[in-house]
Amino acid sequence: MGEPFYRDTWAEVNLSAIEHNIRTIKGNLHQDREVVAVVKANGYGHGAIPVAKTALEAGASTLAVATFDEALELREAQITVPIFVLGWVAAKFAPIAVEKDITLTCFQKEWVEEVATLDLQTPVKVQLKWDTGMGRIGLRSKEELTEVVHALNKTACIQLIGVFTHFATADEVDIQFYQQQYARFKEMKQTFDTLWNKKPVAFHVGNSAASLRFPEKMFDYVRIGIATYGIYPSDVVQKETTPHLLPALSLHSRLVHVKQVDEGSFIGYGNTYEASQGEWIGTIPIGYGDGWPRKLQGMEVLVEGHRMPIVGRISMDQTTISLDKKYPVGTKVTLIGKQKSDEILAKEVADYLDTIPYEVTCMLTQRIPRVYIKNK
Ligand SMILES: Cc1ncc(COP(=O)(O)O)c(C=O)c1O
Repeated sequence: MGEPFYRDTWAEVNLSAIEHNIRTIKGNLHQDREVVAVVKANGYGHGAIPVAKTALEAGASTLAVATFDEALELREAQITVPIFVLGWVAAKFAPIAVEKDITLTCFQKEWVEEVATLDLQTPVKVQLKWDTGMGRIGLRSKEELTEVVHALNKTACIQLIGVFTHFATADEVDIQFYQQQYARFKEMKQTFDTLWNKKPVAFHVGNSAASLRFPEKMFDYVRIGIATYGIYPSDVVQKETTPHLLPALSLHSRLVHVKQVDEGSFIGYGNTYEASQGEWIGTIPIGYGDGWPRKLQGMEVLVEGHRMPIVGRISMDQTTISLDKKYPVGTKVTLIGKQKSDEILAKEVADYLDTIPYEVTCMLTQRIPRVYIKNK
C-alpha cells in the first residue's frame, strides 16, 4: 500500500497493530460502548485514511477529526460512517455538513442562531461541547447551557445527537481534577435532562486515558486517539491498565554514506562535533525538514540492534551518526521501532525532546513516505 517513493527514509505503519489496539480497547469496555477512532492530524501522523479504514474494520463505529477539512478528506475517500468534527466550524458551513453528513460541534448560542437562519431542508447533526474544566471550548455555566438548549429546542435546522466533554488530566497520577470534571459533567447532565425535550442524545467523556483507566465509568461512546496508535497516554496509564497496546509506527532510514575520519574532523553545521581518531561516521537522509528536529542531536538510533548516537547538528535533510565500526551503505537505521532485542519507542524520543509522544508522531512531515504493512 502507499505511493511509490525514491528515498531511503520511510515510516512503517503496522495496520495489524491498529486493529489489535481497537479490538483490545473495545474488549475492555462494557459491550454497549461504542468506539470513536480519533484520526485528526492525519491520524496522529500515521495516515488518516488507512488508519480510519482499519479502525472501522476492527470495531470502531465513528471517526472524529479536529477540522472540517479533515472530515471532508475522509468523505472524499468514500468512508461512509458517521464523522464528527471535534473543533469549532463556522456556522456558514452547515449546509456542506448536511450535504456530506458530517456532525459538527456546537457550544455558542450565536452559532445556533446563525444556523437557524440558514433555512436548511435537512437539519445539520450537532454535538454539544461542555467545558467541565479544560478551558478551551465548550459551555461552562448552567446559564449558558440553558440558553443554548432553549435555542436548540426552537430550531428545526439542528439535530442534536450528542453531548461531550474532554478531560485535562485523565492521564495524571493525581485524579482529583479528573474526578471534579466528571462530577461537573454529571451535574450539567442533570440540568440538560430537565431542559431537553427532543430525541434522546448520546453522552461521552472518555479519551484514551480515561477509557483505559476507568472503563466502567464511560458513557455511550469513547473517543480513542493516542491508544489507537499503540501509544500509552502516560506512564501511569500504562502501569494501571490491563490492555496491552502495540505501537503501530516505526521510522527507518538507511546509511547512504559511511566514512572513517581523522581525529579533530568536524561534523555538521557549526562544528559542534569533533571526531576522535578513526571514528566511523554514517549519514542518513533525514532531517528537520522531515520533522526530525535539531534538538535530537545526541539521541540514539539502532543499527543492527545496537545503539549509536546522533553526532553533529541535524540539518534539514541529513543526520550523522557515530558508528562503532564500518557498516555497508544501505544498512537499515531505525530511529523509532525495534531492531533485534532493542526498541526505541516514540516515548523515548519524546522524553529526549521534553515533550509527549503525541507530538513525536505528529511532527513527522509528509515528506516521509508512509508504508502500510499487515502481519501475515
Ligand atoms: C475532544 C477530544 N476527544 C478525544 C481526543 C483523543 O485524545 P487521546 O488522543 O488522548 O485519546 C482528543 C485529542 O486531543 C480531543 O481533543
